[in-house]
Amino acid sequence: MRKYHFYGIIGACQIHFIIRGVVFMPLVTTKEMFKKAYEGGYAIGAFNVNNMEIIQGITEAAKEDNAPLILQVSAGARKYAKHAYLVKLVEAALIDTDLPIALHLDHGADFDICKSCIDGGFTSVMIDGSKHSFEDNIALTKRVVDYAHEHGVVVEGELGKLAGIEDDVHVKAEDASYTRPDEVEEFVKRTGVDSLAIAIGTSHGAFKFKPEQCTRNADGILVPPELRFDILAEIEKRLPNFPIVLHGASSVIPKYVKIINENGGKLADAVGIPEEQLRKAAKSAVCKINIDSDLRLALTAGIREYMTAHPEHFDPRQYLTPARAYIKELVKHKIDTVLGCNGKA
Ligand code: G3H
Ligand code: 13P
Ligand code: ZN
Repeated sequence: MRKYHFYGIIGACQIHFIIRGVVFMPLVTTKEMFKKAYEGGYAIGAFNVNNMEIIQGITEAAKEDNAPLILQVSAGARKYAKHAYLVKLVEAALIDTDLPIALHLDHGADFDICKSCIDGGFTSVMIDGSKHSFEDNIALTKRVVDYAHEHGVVVEGELGKLAGIEDDVHVKAEDASYTRPDEVEEFVKRTGVDSLAIAIGTSHGAFKFKPEQCTRNADGILVPPELRFDILAEIEKRLPNFPIVLHGASSVIPKYVKIINENGGKLADAVGIPEEQLRKAAKSAVCKINIDSDLRLALTAGIREYMTAHPEHFDPRQYLTPARAYIKELVKHKIDTVLGCNGKA
């Protein structure tokens, strides 16, 4: 029987696993990952996780590609799966893969949720103060940074507002606004954040743009307006060597939308960020690219396709096996052709 010995300080990312005398990689922060990604002109995928199959699909892909990973957990994920289950599943993935993995809180809405994740073993947190005034965002972000840094945890802040819905942070399309480059230096200096999420035209969810905002390509696929690379370039100039984060960066891959719609789903006019724009961003100061909707679509496509083909089956292991395989296929595709972080672990 396997014996697990845990030692170290919870919350200070020093948990090592020793199994039969072998010491396994602890969770890491994003510091080193971002430094290498910035210098190497690639980005790390930050994938939202909610259950075992999603974690396994992502980490098996990363292991095959020897890619560093950020696994991120939203308030909704903590509510759905519970904090301890997610932490333990991610620890299991560390044992299984021996990869550098950071465990990150996605869209922390207040100090308390950030503190709870810092105290509970996460190595990175986002404090999303973007709905507040500039001064209130700075005060809240600084409070989180001070606590996080005391505990060896890194912090992502946000300036500018993305459209879309996340738990506790709802932004209507008309209230979305691009990041103002003239604010970034002061924000980073006064808060001490380790990375900055910016708004340059991405948005959350599988319906990022209205059809009337887009053109259609030869295959009838909706093509959205270009991201504001001019704003990104200006931010990069003002914050040299500083890691930038892109939220709302799913591409809403037509293959999975088609499978869903051919198997009873109704996702008309779903549209995401074109991959060539994300590849361009990954080569710049963008070191973290957030992906959730594409995972949801891949998982749902796998389940729907299986259920249509086998309506008599009811064992979750049967329909979750191809769903997990689609997650793995999707993540490999992201690592190899969008993020460029294969072989960088
Ligand atoms: O940006 C938000 C993520 O997609 C998380 O979504 O809040 O529904 O878990 P969620
Ligand atoms: P998507 O909805 O584009 O996957 O964005 C996810 C995200 O930004 C999580 O924070
Ligand atoms: Zn987000």
